[in-house]
Amino acid sequence: MPTVRANGKAIECEVGANLRRVLLDAGIALHNGNASIINCRSIGTCGTCAVQIEGEAGAVNAANWRDRARRSLPPHEPERDLRLACQTQVLSDIAVTKYDGFWGQGTEPVWTPAGAPDANV
Ligand code: FES
Repeated sequence: MPTVRANGKAIECEVGANLRRVLLDAGIALHNGNASIINCRSIGTCGTCAVQIEGEAGAVNAANWRDRARRSLPPHEPERDLRLACQTQVLSDIAVTKYDGFWGQGTEPVWTPAGAPDANV
């Protein structure tokens, strides 16, 4: 079973599990602020579930057209190494970081695989 490391937790999930569902079911605040209320709930249109994923090649599915299309629009930047969690399938072990901003488009981590930045010291 793949392990997802996020915000200080190590969560085991099924191969092919939806990353947004894995994080929310583990009680991890995937959406920043009011985006936890105002989001598209996995349709792939709001872009607020954006995260950075680290792992070996093939650790998640290739970005699908919804993921690429939404991240090509502001405030996201298509060249940034983020993914939409709701469009991401977990295929093997990964580590996840969430950045600030309503859409998670910022540059300051809200949480990292190890936890909140203040907890990393
Ligand atoms: S929850 Fe809206 S794009 Fe992922």
